[in-house]
Amino acid sequence: AYLGDEDLTQETRDLISSLPKEKGWLVSEMYQYQGRWHTQALLQGILICQKRFEAKDSDIILVTNPKSGTTWLKALVFALLNRHKFPISSSGNHPLLVTNPHLLVPFLEGVYYESPDFDFSGLPSPRLMNTHISHLSLPESIKSSSCKIVYCCRNPKDMFVSLWHFGKKLAPEETAAYPIEKAVETFCEGKFIGGPFWDHILEYWYASRENPNKVLFVTYEDLKKQTEAEMKRIAEFLGCGFIEEEEVREIAKLCSFESLSDLEVNRQGKLPNGMETKTFFRKGEIGGWSDTLSESLAAEIDRTIEEKFHGSGLIF
Ligand code: A3P
Repeated sequence: AYLGDEDLTQETRDLISSLPKEKGWLVSEMYQYQGRWHTQALLQGILICQKRFEAKDSDIILVTNPKSGTTWLKALVFALLNRHKFPISSSGNHPLLVTNPHLLVPFLEGVYYESPDFDFSGLPSPRLMNTHISHLSLPESIKSSSCKIVYCCRNPKDMFVSLWHFGKKLAPEETAAYPIEKAVETFCEGKFIGGPFWDHILEYWYASRENPNKVLFVTYEDLKKQTEAEMKRIAEFLGCGFIEEEEVREIAKLCSFESLSDLEVNRQGKLPNGMETKTFFRKGEIGGWSDTLSESLAAEIDRTIEEKFHGSGLIF
């Protein structure tokens, strides 16, 4: 059951009602909290997460902007961590073959929104979870503990196009009433649900440079071009111990777009919130933006990329 307003504490209600509010793409109201624009639902989840989540040193937190490779990263890291419990080679019964990755790795603010009293302490160690929360807004214990963060970022043009198609599928009417030109403009400005995405990327980028043992920065593009090398980098960062080349190859294959998107569970399945699992799999390509963005819209995003990331050392 979803939270109703009546389940919110007075403090949360007061906070939400004091925040800047705007109409946004797909939503009639989004709220600006600690610099980012959120739907009320996710904002509630974030506020509860900030208050209740207690990180352990052994935790692993996967962080992404939406549509930047979350599903894929969840599958890869889940398979890596559980390779002894669920060996790939012997299995026609690996959990990833019958379960969507989102059900194997809990989404912190989503779980807290749906179940404010959810107790994460029961998850097997090391606990693997994911979030879209910005570095600035992470629960204090995630920052102060020795838990590890793997951040995956994607070329903003591909991320925008992925979001655009995702939104069209989830809310065809609202999207039809919102031209893509306007969506690109608000995406670039940052007044977009989940945005500004630029700051999100930069915060984790700088955190990874300042503290490389705490935050590992990977990109969707590198994962795609050299999956096995990136998996080894992730495994080393997480202290997974020795992994056979063969094992890395098999995990990469199991988690590939072709393999996951072809499974019954990801073609016909639904998440408990009713979302169809197939919406998480579309093209899975680098540079797929060119079939959706006109040259001038692509140039608008490129200008913003240049302006925001200039001098950061991050190149798209
Ligand atoms: P496209 O819409 O460009 O195809 P998220 O998981 O963060 O919601 O991101 C979804 C994007 O990742 C979609 O991009 C989806 O197709 C792609 N994707 C999902 N699973 C993938 C996989 N195993 N390998 C590569 N890309 C994947």
